[in-house]
Amino acid sequence: MNVTVRELTFSVDIAGQGSPILFVPGFPLTRRMWQAQTEALADSHRVIAPDLRGFGDGSPVAGLLTMDDYADDLAGLLDALGVTVPVTLCGLSMGGYVAFAFVRRHRARLARLVLCDTKAAADSSEKQAERERTAEDVLKDGTSGLARGMPRSLLGLRSLATRPLVAAAVGKMILAAPRESVAAALRAMAARPDSTDLLPSLDLPTLVLCGEDDAISPPDEMRSMASMIPNASYVEIPAAGHLAPMENPDAVNAALRRFLA
Ligand code: MLT
Repeated sequence: MNVTVRELTFSVDIAGQGSPILFVPGFPLTRRMWQAQTEALADSHRVIAPDLRGFGDGSPVAGLLTMDDYADDLAGLLDALGVTVPVTLCGLSMGGYVAFAFVRRHRARLARLVLCDTKAAADSSEKQAERERTAEDVLKDGTSGLARGMPRSLLGLRSLATRPLVAAAVGKMILAAPRESVAAALRAMAARPDSTDLLPSLDLPTLVLCGEDDAISPPDEMRSMASMIPNASYVEIPAAGHLAPMENPDAVNAALRRFLA
């Protein structure tokens, strides 16, 4: 369904009854990356999977954005859907950066947190410069270059060898992403604050999930992030890279069910 929030249209998949789980996608993907989770968990929860601003079937974006904008969109979406009870927020990678902004701005709306293949640290200056170059390239040439190259860095080697349909689905989502939205998200990620100081103050049950072959937010870094969160458990997802929910959905769903039980 489409929902209007802050004068923009967002597409959101909603199913099931029960305590709500809000799924937040990674960059530059859509709500469809959570399809295996929303289909499975709708038997016991109200699953809510929106696109981030500018992605999927929603309105395109123009101008500068911050992680706070994406977080406020999600809070506005919960208002628009009449969700007043605290939710479990499950964010992957950039979705995790949005989750940190959501904690800072809307803590009372959260019951639990799932941080999947993400990191608390801000970008280095080299990474910020690389993102700016990519934003300029994408604005000029579109997303076909990213669609060709990114699946190889996002997916684990084993998934690349054995799950061609997942690689194809990821490439298709990237190709369909509007160039302005991709550039805005790259610039917002480059400008995001360091969230390391937030970790010890996270006072809600937290699950940290990491694909064992994740080369972007590697297991060592995610294990160390989990160790800084007082009430966190850490689960490594076998045979998966940075997109663990798509690469090994059964293991991710089982970890989510254990955490939510
Ligand atoms: C993502 O999957 O959202 C990106 O890898 C995040 C990033 O580029 O830092």
